[in-house]
Amino acid sequence: RFNDITMAPPDPILGVSEAFKADDHEMKLNLGVGAYRTEDLQPYVLNVVKKVSCFIYSCSCLLHESVLCVYYICFEYVLKFDITFSYKICRQKILCWNGESISGTGSLRLAAALIERYFTGSKVLISSPTWGNHKNIFNDARVPWSEYRYYDPKTVGLDFDGMIADIKAAPEGSFVLLHGCAHNPTGIDPTPAQWERIADVIQEKSHIPFFDFAYQGFASGCLDKDALSMRLFAARGMELLIAQSYGKNMGLYAERIGALNVVCSSSEDAKRVKSQLKRIARATYSSPPVHGARIVANVVGNPDLFNEWKEEMELMAGRITSVRKKLYDSLIAKDNSGKDWSFILKHIGMFSFTGLTEAQIENMTSKWHVYMTKDGRISLAGLSSAKCEYLADAFIDSFHN
Ligand code: LMR
Repeated sequence: RFNDITMAPPDPILGVSEAFKADDHEMKLNLGVGAYRTEDLQPYVLNVVKKVSCFIYSCSCLLHESVLCVYYICFEYVLKFDITFSYKICRQKILCWNGESISGTGSLRLAAALIERYFTGSKVLISSPTWGNHKNIFNDARVPWSEYRYYDPKTVGLDFDGMIADIKAAPEGSFVLLHGCAHNPTGIDPTPAQWERIADVIQEKSHIPFFDFAYQGFASGCLDKDALSMRLFAARGMELLIAQSYGKNMGLYAERIGALNVVCSSSEDAKRVKSQLKRIARATYSSPPVHGARIVANVVGNPDLFNEWKEEMELMAGRITSVRKKLYDSLIAKDNSGKDWSFILKHIGMFSFTGLTEAQIENMTSKWHVYMTKDGRISLAGLSSAKCEYLADAFIDSFHN
């Protein structure tokens, strides 16, 4: 009976936004969800997206096509999607299937279903810590997972030796879930030399690299530079899974637009993998929504719009870098305890991992109206320059009490 169903716990990230909405304090800050905001702390609609949306709406015959056409449009766009990160892969004649899916989460869930069915019993190795939804996704798909060390609280940096040791110790043929860039939640990425070493170990152990690529552009401001890790693995001829989202870098959160990319060793493998992924999709959501796909495809398929997107990407990433700097400067100016705040500048992308305890986070929220996730992550995308000093006061008060 429905009566037997128990209440589900609130989502660790989306639940924070609910609590934020219910607060009417004028200085409140939502540093919970990783969603880009303008200096006025409002959602940002990219100019390229506005332009392309007008064009799409003018072609009204395109708007509400049948399911079969949705598939057709998605596959038609494959090569255009590739321009953003896997163009070089295709040039090297490594075969790649690229299918639109329901944003980053949908792509991860589709890949998880593939692992559950065709690699039964294989483990997915997940960084510790990781995005709040990863474990949820693999649990839901009944895929076993374990953690590899990633964050070192002593250095507030990467535990590289621990990471390598744990990947080495995992059973051969495991999937290693890596964050393509701008690691969520820590904001700490391996260096290019460290990526090479990670690739060596994954190859030695015949593991399969599985990238979550949700923040392309937010690490360096440059779409190309942020694809370095995946290109490096692909250049070695390795098979790869890449769950890509355009939610953040094109501001298309609610359009749920992303792609699951599978780099296989032969075109025959790619065809069979594609047929199975289509089958899994058909049994779950049948076909993906098409509006976001049309926007992305039109932007990446038009050199002028593509360049405009790159410029807007730089602006978004630049705004986050500048609030990082201002927050750091405010902390240094106000705090005379000698605490080292440099981690704020060292971390990249939307997030920083503060190391605040649950009690300190509780103080941030109840006393200062600053909302953040319970793991101590803050999303700098939700901070404005005008509120940096206020946030610095909140941090100093919470850290030292
Ligand atoms: C986040 O980590 O905050 C974002 O990826 C948004 C989400 O859905 O969790």
